[in-house]
Amino acid sequence: MSDADTQTMTIGDKQYPVRHGSVGPAVTDIRKLYAQTGMFTYDPGFTSTASCESTLTYIDGDEGVLLHRGYPIGQLAEQSSFMEVAYLLLNHELPSAAELDKFTYTISRHTMLHEQLAQFYRGFRRDAHPMAIMCGVVGALSAFYHDSTDIADPHQRMIASHRLIAKMPTIAAMAYKYSVGQPFLYPDNSLSYTGNFLRMTFGVPAEPYEVNPVVERALDRIFILHADHEQNASTSTVRLAGSSGANPFACIAAGIACLWGPAHGGANEAALNMLREIGTPDRIPEYIARAKDKNDPFRLMGFGHRVYKNYDPRATVMQKTVREVFDSLGVSDPVFETALQLEEIALKDEYFAEKKLFPNVDFYSGVILSAIGFPTTMFTALFALARTVGWVAQWNEMISDPEQKIGRPRQLYTGPTQRDYVPVGER
Ligand code: CMC
Repeated sequence: MSDADTQTMTIGDKQYPVRHGSVGPAVTDIRKLYAQTGMFTYDPGFTSTASCESTLTYIDGDEGVLLHRGYPIGQLAEQSSFMEVAYLLLNHELPSAAELDKFTYTISRHTMLHEQLAQFYRGFRRDAHPMAIMCGVVGALSAFYHDSTDIADPHQRMIASHRLIAKMPTIAAMAYKYSVGQPFLYPDNSLSYTGNFLRMTFGVPAEPYEVNPVVERALDRIFILHADHEQNASTSTVRLAGSSGANPFACIAAGIACLWGPAHGGANEAALNMLREIGTPDRIPEYIARAKDKNDPFRLMGFGHRVYKNYDPRATVMQKTVREVFDSLGVSDPVFETALQLEEIALKDEYFAEKKLFPNVDFYSGVILSAIGFPTTMFTALFALARTVGWVAQWNEMISDPEQKIGRPRQLYTGPTQRDYVPVGER
């Protein structure tokens, strides 16, 4: 029984307080449930569980709304910059012009990696996936930056956050350079955050690199679209790792590991691979049929979402950005046509309509990243780069929360009850 108006939920003969946020579903505070009833709640995948209180990001999945600190993602993507969104997520409010300049300058002062870290890369196989390299190198940062691992000190926490945001483009670009056998490029702090990343990725020491402003703007927008997304799997991983008091670099490495999976950040790579495999629009019905077949594990990658039961607002911006980049670069890719037709056919299909499966952010991101020149293996690394902002903001929020405890879920045990050990010779 629940009655949000009475502000309590009754379970058995006990009442539990209902708490209301500023917007969105209320929660029942069941922290005393086990102590009072001896029962746990059962919620695999946390579909009905609010794990924390947060002021960062709000999603209304039914309406297709995504807000960062109250600002709609569409407005931020169109009018803001990634540095401004990073400031907003970390500091609660949009910056003044002077605050933005100072923040951008501070981030630029942390873009270089400890020189010894370059040695780490040489330990990986040339064909290592960039996400494997990112997990390793980001985890290793704690061995190099001891002066920002005291999580009880807010100043150290902020330095670690700035370092992670600043160094992630350098780490990702070096992972790419290593895979193609080209020399690493040092950061150029006269460029924007995104322009610098493009140069470190696609430039070579032998000649100057011209940042294309259309590509720079498009990639910056992609970073904004990926900056944060409430309590998703990788963010919850960062929070869980951080709840034990682990240092921020280890926590973000844990987030990168979780993001890599094809049901999460790995979906952008999988979506483009799928679109390429489909190849031409005439093969779309075959793949739609496979996605609907219960006996086939195949899923339409870039479709469906745990929270959005409507069009993902990030996919709307992403689709528009593909058109802008293609128009301004004068390029085209048959894969985009396949994507548009696949979307149209799927949205008219009863299966997808009934299950409320719509394109998500990853459906179009691969098309645009590929047009810019990134290989598919870099797609999830770019997601990790951008999501680092959300991860550090959420991690800071958690550490500052007086109600924060170590994360320790319980379980419904269905294994053997107690029995006596039998020596091996008697079994
Ligand atoms: N293609 C075909 N069927 C699907 C798909 C899909 N992409 N997604 C969900 N379904 C079906 C699923 O088979 C299930 O059917 P039934 O009720 O008959 O068993 C129903 O829809 C509900 O799916 P679910 O797996 O229970 O839903 P979920 O909330 O646990 O999963 C998801 C969400 C994103 C993991 C899933 O939709 C999926 O695997 N999508 C493809 C991967 C993808 O694009 N992931 C990127 C997510 S957005 C970026 C990010 O957050 O990282």
